[in-house]
Amino acid sequence: MTFELCFKECNVTEPLSLAIESSCDETAVAILRGERDVLANAIASQIKEHARFGGIVPEIASRMHLTALEPLLQQALDEAKVSLTDLNFISVTRAPGLIGALLVGVNFAKALAYRLKIPLVGVNHLAGHMLAARLEEKAPAFPYIGLIVSGGHTALYRIDDPLHFHLLGRTVDDAAGEAYDKVAKLLGLGYPGGIVIDQLAERGNPRAYDFPRGMIKNKKRNLDFSFSGLKTAVKEALGERNLEGQDLYDLCASFQEAVADVLVKKSLWACRAERINRLVLAGGVAANSRLRNLALERGTKDKRKVYLPSKIFCTDNAAMIAVAGYHRYQAGLIDDMTLNANASEHLF
Ligand code: KG4
Ligand code: ZN
Repeated sequence: MTFELCFKECNVTEPLSLAIESSCDETAVAILRGERDVLANAIASQIKEHARFGGIVPEIASRMHLTALEPLLQQALDEAKVSLTDLNFISVTRAPGLIGALLVGVNFAKALAYRLKIPLVGVNHLAGHMLAARLEEKAPAFPYIGLIVSGGHTALYRIDDPLHFHLLGRTVDDAAGEAYDKVAKLLGLGYPGGIVIDQLAERGNPRAYDFPRGMIKNKKRNLDFSFSGLKTAVKEALGERNLEGQDLYDLCASFQEAVADVLVKKSLWACRAERINRLVLAGGVAANSRLRNLALERGTKDKRKVYLPSKIFCTDNAAMIAVAGYHRYQAGLIDDMTLNANASEHLF
């Protein structure tokens, strides 16, 4: 049966897709009608399990994806009130990420697509993040500048359309989320530390410490980032002390200000260089309150439209994978049973 025939029989105009995400420490399954209609967005976080070790343990991540996927799929089907046989295609994150974790999702999706005899679409995780803002009611039109800031990535892209991403700059060392997590560790705040620093910083003075802004002092307005110097500066400022109360809040606020300042400044440089007035934030660190406020404040002043996806679509989820998969499916970019996971593939 052709897919066109199936659409007619099902009496729907837009395809129903299932999306699977398992690249890091969140297992996620989503069901979407067309590009943007989210019928289910189920997420199982492994954070508590990894927190005991102060970071992600790849082997544990793979095992937990394996046990979480099937119940999560059932949960998503129940939430969406559809059955497996209603699905038209399956999208899955194939790169980049932890190889074992990716393989669990890719093989699960392959088996399901084979059993249901429906198309399979492999998706780059970063493409998913870059398209997450399309899920919001006020979705950005193309082209736009995308800033991805997560635990594994920090980069600026020009997104020409849902299939074409042009890298403008990226971190030369740590990712912004990695810097957050490392500083949180230094401060004894546990893992992952982004959200904790965000909350503590609310009560602090962002000017208490004058932390360095990496790679900002160049006339050519380079769009690469560097956060390792900032991490070292925090370490030096901390010394042997165990900070508490106002001192801790001030250090968190000052660190957060340095990160947000650089990210926003370079994002607006990118808008100017590319002559694009839409800026979209994505990735786990895009949930950061100071980054969101500063991007809105300075972006508006600079006459840019700033798009901030809701926090559930900023952190890892499968709905964003479904958006990216939808566009590949519509363009005929279907994969077959040779689809493989790739830990390090970048998006250009
Ligand atoms: O996108 P994501 O969920 O997973 C990756 O693909 O990495 O991002 C996780 C990262 C972690 O480093 C976490 O500390 C950071 O996002 N993060 C935050 C906040 N919420 C999560 N960083 C700063 N402020 C937050 N509110
Ligand atoms: Zn991510």
